[in-house]
Amino acid sequence: MAKEENPFKNLLAPIKIGPVELKHRMVLAPMNETLSGMNGEVTEQMLAYYAARAKGGAAMVITGAIMGTKLASRYVWGRNLHCFHPGHIQGLKLLTDRVHYFGAQACAQITIGFGRQGHSADHHELVPAPTAGLPYEIALEKGARPVANAWKKVEHPRSFLVGQMTREMSIEEIHSEQKEFARSCQLLVLAGFDAIEIHAPHGYLEHQFLSPFSNKRTDMYGGEWRNRKRFLNEVTEQVRYAVGSGVALGVRISAEEHMEGGLTREEMIDLARDLEERGIDYLSLSDGGGYEEGGHLVPDKDRAAHIPEHGRDFKKAVKVPVIVASQHDPVKADADIGKGWFDISALGRQLFIDPEYPKKIEESRPDDINRCRYCDTCLGLCLAGVGPACPHNPELGREYANPEYMLGPRAAHEIPVPRGMLAGDMPCLDRPWWKPEMPYIEKCWRPFRGPGKG
Ligand SMILES: Cc1cc2nc3c(=O)[nH]c(=O)nc-3n(C[C@H](O)[C@H](O)[C@H](O)COP(=O)(O)O)c2cc1C
Repeated sequence: MAKEENPFKNLLAPIKIGPVELKHRMVLAPMNETLSGMNGEVTEQMLAYYAARAKGGAAMVITGAIMGTKLASRYVWGRNLHCFHPGHIQGLKLLTDRVHYFGAQACAQITIGFGRQGHSADHHELVPAPTAGLPYEIALEKGARPVANAWKKVEHPRSFLVGQMTREMSIEEIHSEQKEFARSCQLLVLAGFDAIEIHAPHGYLEHQFLSPFSNKRTDMYGGEWRNRKRFLNEVTEQVRYAVGSGVALGVRISAEEHMEGGLTREEMIDLARDLEERGIDYLSLSDGGGYEEGGHLVPDKDRAAHIPEHGRDFKKAVKVPVIVASQHDPVKADADIGKGWFDISALGRQLFIDPEYPKKIEESRPDDINRCRYCDTCLGLCLAGVGPACPHNPELGREYANPEYMLGPRAAHEIPVPRGMLAGDMPCLDRPWWKPEMPYIEKCWRPFRGPGKG
């Protein structure tokens, strides 16, 4: 079918996020598929998994949350990628090469940590968080069925139900972590990522600073709203400064917390304005509080239906493109983009089950799409840390057995030098090896000039 006759005109319209051109509006949502190695390294299984989504036509492939500091990497749940050491560049470069070879842009989602949602690798260390003595606790009935099954039957996932005791991060530690995180983002640029997404939804550390439930501090990072948003605002400023203008920078936030007395949509819209002022190139909207809230992080069909309304409200407040998650129905997604409710559709479970969804839209074959049944088997398995599987896509997690996802010599469209390096001016951030100077020594850093100040 000729492109002009394809009815999905809005989904297929190209769009720019900062310096990065997306060929259309369908991207892979960040999902920690738990295919990394136990030291946070990229594996062949993971490379082939992302290759399949790039080959299936996604305009941009976003990784699951990468642990962006050494401290963060010591308090994870299950397995996550790591990026805080120059040695991590190698595997991540293999990943971006694989994604680029199949024609997609590569975006790294990176977090400064699980905070109180983390679990100490050694089981006996207090978990660093905004507030001391505040572990989380999940009500069993809040989990989707396969998740609850995993929780009921196996010790490891069951221990996910109750968080470990927390300790309060000191101000020196906060500053030191922020600086290390910005430096890690520079490593991502060297690894060839086109975009970097700061992960701040779902009750992780960045979100914990925002939320009155998890932030009971009385210093400059707690209390009133402008103090609670300081942590994320500073992180965003520093990352923007650190990575320069060569790559796109996005932030993912929850549109609301959905807990009584929790973060409201108005507050999050106010935060989005702050982030835009600090130079982000796109805003990605997810939903929900942390593990305790549960129901909106990976929504069922009914909850997902309301997500474009969040987009509509945020789009009134910011000019940068807005990504929303969970819009599996291409007809509705196309119409909502047309109405100006959001700009880009991030597909998670839907690209687990059918990585060729974007290609099928490009070929105007929506009826051939294998639609997600919201059974959440994938989620249950990922939470148990055993890698994803789907009852309706036998290839999920086994892509590495398919030679189609291997790469060959550099393809004509691939640029040999990472995009961010071509742009030139990443400032020198001399930090770890490995922060022996704690507490924070100002002179290790060049003065922070702030975004847009030349
Ligand atoms: C197995 C799994 C892992 C996820 N991991 C992340 C993650 O690392 N970072 C994140 O921001 N969201 C994560 N999410 C949420 C997804 O990005 C997405 O917002 C959610 O699944 C809803 O979209 P969907 O209906 O297309 O799946 C995860 C979801 C699933 C199912």
